Amino acid sequence: MGQASNICGGVVRRLLPAELPGFRDHLLRLDPDSRQDRFGMAVSDDFLRNYAERCFGIDDVIYGFVVEGMVRGAGELRGIGYNLPLGFGGSAEAAFSVESEWRRQGVGAELMSRIVRAARNRRAETLYMSCLINNRAMLQLAKKFTADLRYEPDESRAQISPKAPTPATMLSEAADDFTGFATAMVDLHRRVFELR
Ligand SMILES: CC(C)(COP(=O)(O)OP(=O)(O)OC[C@H]1O[C@@H](n2cnc3c(N)ncnc32)[C@H](O)[C@@H]1OP(=O)(O)O)[C@@H](O)C(=O)NCCC(=O)NCCS
Repeated sequence: MGQASNICGGVVRRLLPAELPGFRDHLLRLDPDSRQDRFGMAVSDDFLRNYAERCFGIDDVIYGFVVEGMVRGAGELRGIGYNLPLGFGGSAEAAFSVESEWRRQGVGAELMSRIVRAARNRRAETLYMSCLINNRAMLQLAKKFTADLRYEPDESRAQISPKAPTPATMLSEAADDFTGFATAMVDLHRRVFELR
């Protein structure tokens, strides 16, 4: 895990801001149960459209699972609270979504390995993942990366303390993003050609 890789006919790579529409459409394809699991509540299409618009901020890191130019899964990382922005310590939050047809094939774990590495390289001291207490899939996935799961009344919080970055982790992210960028260009061109 960690390098750009082909999985289930797709690729896990960083999404560019220009791919906001693809990310938004992925969220819109999530069924009601998945939306509940992802956001901890029922959310409407309008909510998701507004949410997606705010997702490509300067500090945000979004990896996508892209199949034939369509985003079928996403891992999101952003700084939280009034802490320092990512890159200067502080806490970060991660969230994941994979469309049902592509689940249980390791896509979530691939996305999570990228997000944990990104948090590490940005010197996040703590990485939180919130999910409903009955969300077995996310809890099991989180356990693959941490044994430290804290339970609150209605939701559980997985907490990871990323290790300090090393030249190898920085380099692997840079190499991954380089190949991801090349693939993104191909996907974006494909969309342009499709529109003609
Ligand atoms: C949580 C989610 C992202 C997992 O994606 P995924 O691609 O299926 O995950 P993986 O295939 O990498 O599974 C990793 C591990 O999680 C566990 N897991 C995944 N789905 C599971 C399920 N339905 N029941 C129990 N364990 C499950 C397994 O331990 C699995 O490893 P294994 O197959 O080696 O046993 C996906 O189920 C999803 O999008 N759910 C809806 C949104 C959500 O709940 N997001 C989390 C809150 S932010």
